[in-house]
Parts: sequence; C-alpha cells; structure tokens
Amino acid sequence: METNRIMEILDNFKNKNILIIGDIMLDKYIYGDVDRISPEAPVQVVNVKKEKYVLGGAANVASNVASLGCKTSICGVIGKDEAGKILISCLEEKKINRDMVVTDKLKISTQKIRIVGQSQQLLRIDYENTIYISPAVEEEIIKKLMEKISLYDVIIISDYAKGTITNYITATIIKNNNKVIVDPKPKHKEFYKGAYLITPNLKEASAMSGIEGEDENSISSIGQHLLEEMNSHILITCGARGMYLFKKDREFYRLPTKAKEVYDVTGAGDTVIATIASSLSSGATLREASYIANYAAGIVVGKSGTASTAVEEIKNEIKYDKSRFS
Ligand SMILES: Nc1ncnc2c1ncn2[C@@H]1O[C@H](COP(=O)(O)OP(=O)(O)OP(=O)(O)O)[C@@H](O)[C@H]1O
Ligand SMILES: [Mg+2]
Repeated sequence: METNRIMEILDNFKNKNILIIGDIMLDKYIYGDVDRISPEAPVQVVNVKKEKYVLGGAANVASNVASLGCKTSICGVIGKDEAGKILISCLEEKKINRDMVVTDKLKISTQKIRIVGQSQQLLRIDYENTIYISPAVEEEIIKKLMEKISLYDVIIISDYAKGTITNYITATIIKNNNKVIVDPKPKHKEFYKGAYLITPNLKEASAMSGIEGEDENSISSIGQHLLEEMNSHILITCGARGMYLFKKDREFYRLPTKAKEVYDVTGAGDTVIATIASSLSSGATLREASYIANYAAGIVVGKSGTASTAVEEIKNEIKYDKSRFS
C-alpha cells in the first residue's frame, strides 16, 4: 500500500458528509468506592464518586466518525425520557447533527448503566424496549431521509436490533444512495441485500451464511456464500485475527490485526465501520479503506472503554509501522 496515497485519503476526511442511521444508545457509568456490605441485604454498597455518560450503539459509531473529522449526522429514535435528553446533549457536545433524531413515544431510550467499584464492574442495568418503531415514526424518518439522502457521501446502517432498523428503511436507503454500508444483525439479513458493503464479525457472518467453522477455509466459504447471497462486498472482522475482505469481483484480501497491545476490545467493530465510511467518502478503494480501518481498530483496542481515534493518531501509527520495515 502506498503511504502517500493513504495520507492523502486521511487528509480528505474533513470535507465529507456521513450519515449514521440505527439504534441510538446511552452508556452510563457510575464509579464509586466499595467498603461495606449493606445492612439490608447481603450486597455491596457503592459510595458514588463520579458519573459519566457516553454515546453508545449507532451513536458511538457517529462519535467515531465525528472524531475522525467528518461532518456527521445521525438518524434514529429516542424515548420521551431523561435518557433521551442526555443523549441529545451528548450528540450536541460532539457536534453531531441531530435533525433526524425522532422521539418515539411508544419506545424508551436504550440505556445501559454500568456500576463500577474499585475498577471492577459490579452490575449492569439495561433499559430497553426492542419493539419496532411505529409506522408513523417510520414514515417520519423516511420523509426526513428523503429530503437529504443525496447529500451524504456514505450512509452507515448501524443495526443492533433494538427496533429502529426496518426493511422499509433499509430498502429506501439502499435504493437511493449507492454507498450504503451495514454493520448487521443476522436476524435482519434480508434487509441488507444490495447494500454496497456489509461488515459482520465472524460470529454474525457464520449465522448469516449458516456455515460453521473458524478456520481459514470456513471463513472463505462464509465470505463467498455471503457475497453471492447478499450481492454486496463483504468484510468479515475476526477479532485478534484481523479482517477478511471479499470483493464482488472475487478479489480477496486478508488483513492481520495491527493492535500492539489489547486493553479493551469494546466498540472495535464501531471503529471499523466508522473508518471504512470516512475512507470511502474520501475516495479510497475498499482495500485501502479496510487497510486504514484495521489500523484504527488496532489503536482503539489499546484504549480503555468504548474509544475512538483521530486522523493524526492513525497517520502516526501507519508511519511508525512503515518505519519499522524500512
Ligand atoms: N483481541 C484483539 N486483538 C487485536 N485486534 C483486535 C482484537 N479485537 C478486535 N481487534 C481489531 O478490531 C477489529 C474488529 O473487531 P471484532 O472483529 O471483534 O469486531 P466486533 O465483534 O464487531 O466488535 P464489537 O461489536 O464489540 O464492536 C478486528 O478486525 C481487529 O482489527
Ligand atoms: Mg460488531
């Protein structure tokens, strides 16, 4: 891969428009000290010292895209609740456009609360309601989407199967924009046919294809199968083993991970799709986009929590990596 060309792609991110549509989530972290057992029940008592809110799900993908410097918009639903208000202010803080965030009164905002004492997670509390958005909300989203759909260089569908992504929505997007890339959930496989690129992890790819096995031969069969069935390019992410790109023209690339140290793999998939989108919007080929995303993922797995990276950091990582071999 020619380094100057890669640097040029990375320099282009700032002028691009990217839309993320999907399940918006809020992650709340409650940190505290634990030094006694409750007199009421045999449970630990956490004396809260700090609280933190972080964007999750599709909103974390948006956060990653924004960190990469692109003009970022998000489309999805929140509930008529406190978590919804906090989500809006977190999106605002990251300068993510939220004109297409719709309130669905029949749903609640998806929120995951993690209680952490002495650096150890003690409990997770989930608020979610995975019913599909109502037909009225679906219409409202489609209407908003159609007003601007041609403005986006790339559209990311970030599906966590919490009810935002419907077949009507994906079909409309895929029909009207030719750079739609999908982080899929196997149960919605039929929704994504004809998208430009689909980026399942190995477990999802296996479930989508109905082919089991984790060895290279199985991965190859899974990739070939999905290529044909979905009529999309396929990027299978494979955790510590990196990623496998299957192109519709039958070209195939294997990209070993670039991670130097692994601290927290949460959200690596979100970083991958965010970086692929930014790179494609800047004119990268699929192979170049995957190459850059592999470095970006390698950086975030070395950070704590659901992290993101920036263009300078990716550039430095690539330059450092290249210098080791020249
Ligand atoms: N343990 C690891 N060691 C090295 N690199 C990793 C590791 N886990 C993830 N990566 C990097 O991150 C990329 C995406 O990771 P992975 O395949 O786990 O995605 P994912 O399962 O969709 O993640 P998530 O859904 O938790 O965000 C990998 O292709 C690789 O580049
Ligand atoms: Mg994933």
